[in-house]
Amino acid sequence: MRAVPVDDIMAAVIKKVGVIGAGQMGNGIAHVAALAGFDVVLNDISADRLKSGMATINGNLARQVSKKAVSEDDKNKAMARISLAEKLDDLADCDLVIETAVEKEEVKRKIFHELCAVLKPEAIVASDTSSISITRLAAATDRPERFIGIHFMNPVPLMELVELIRGIATDDSTFEASKEFVAKLGKQVAVSEDFPAFIVNRILLPMINEAIYTLYEGVGNVEAIDAAMKLGAHHPMGPLELADFIGLDTCLSIMQVLHEGLADSKYRPCPLLVKYVEAGWLGRKTQRGFYDYRGAKPVPTR
Ligand SMILES: NC(=O)c1ccc[n+]([C@@H]2O[C@H](COP(=O)([O-])OP(=O)(O)OC[C@H]3O[C@@H](n4cnc5c(N)ncnc54)[C@H](O)[C@@H]3O)[C@@H](O)[C@H]2O)c1
Repeated sequence: MRAVPVDDIMAAVIKKVGVIGAGQMGNGIAHVAALAGFDVVLNDISADRLKSGMATINGNLARQVSKKAVSEDDKNKAMARISLAEKLDDLADCDLVIETAVEKEEVKRKIFHELCAVLKPEAIVASDTSSISITRLAAATDRPERFIGIHFMNPVPLMELVELIRGIATDDSTFEASKEFVAKLGKQVAVSEDFPAFIVNRILLPMINEAIYTLYEGVGNVEAIDAAMKLGAHHPMGPLELADFIGLDTCLSIMQVLHEGLADSKYRPCPLLVKYVEAGWLGRKTQRGFYDYRGAKPVPTR
């Protein structure tokens, strides 16, 4: 039997988790990791996003307390386990770092380059990318064998699934340690091969893009399309409402990765999606997308 290298044993023990990006995914990942007992270091380039990320975690934990899903004591302990970091240097002694910054490959590559220069060599580096090749991102690091895709679903505290994606070089100890980490968060794993957008988004995003084409071509208006899929297909949210929830910039990036990665015109991003993103109407996070969220209740923008 092959002896397990010392590095592999160390990698299997995850205690301290770094999260890069304190947006809607980053604060959700920090929330569930801290609640599961991990020490969390949350980083963002924006101090404001760090502040608002913590406020969101506090608010979401408070909601769980009011629903009696979490005790007040566990909430306080979870909040105390999260520290904020404006520099990547503060993540140096993490056992696992999960990158969940914007869905732009050049941003992620730059983060990995800077992170690996300070991070301890045995640490695992993961990306929460929705669509970008794990093998390609791994190649931007000094440790492709310790790199993996850990793809959470939004909203992280509520969704049960996490996709695990191995790059071509990901070793078994990295995969096993990641699987164990996800299990400790109380979530189920679906293993996906490393192809554009993996499983969930490969199926979900073309449906959302088609809903936007349905709007673009005037087949239905925003309300009709969402009502049709909610009442006619029993989807809990309409596809346009869901696109606003995911973020239209993220939706567009995923469609671009599918279009380029699979070279098939069926993945062509709808020009109306491009237009919304160009306008900066990115959905809920900017208060306007297919709906306008600035008033008491969402109003369709078309
Ligand atoms: N939104 C979803 O439904 C969803 C689901 C699963 C995975 N993801 C993936 O998660 C990632 C983040 O998505 P999000 O919805 O949280 O986006 P978001 O726009 O809410 O947050 C992104 C955060 O990254 C920060 N950031 C940007 N550049 C950075 C850098 N260089 N260093 C540190 N922080 C930086 C931004 O300041 C922002 O706070 C993307 O890769 C996305 O594809 C999104």
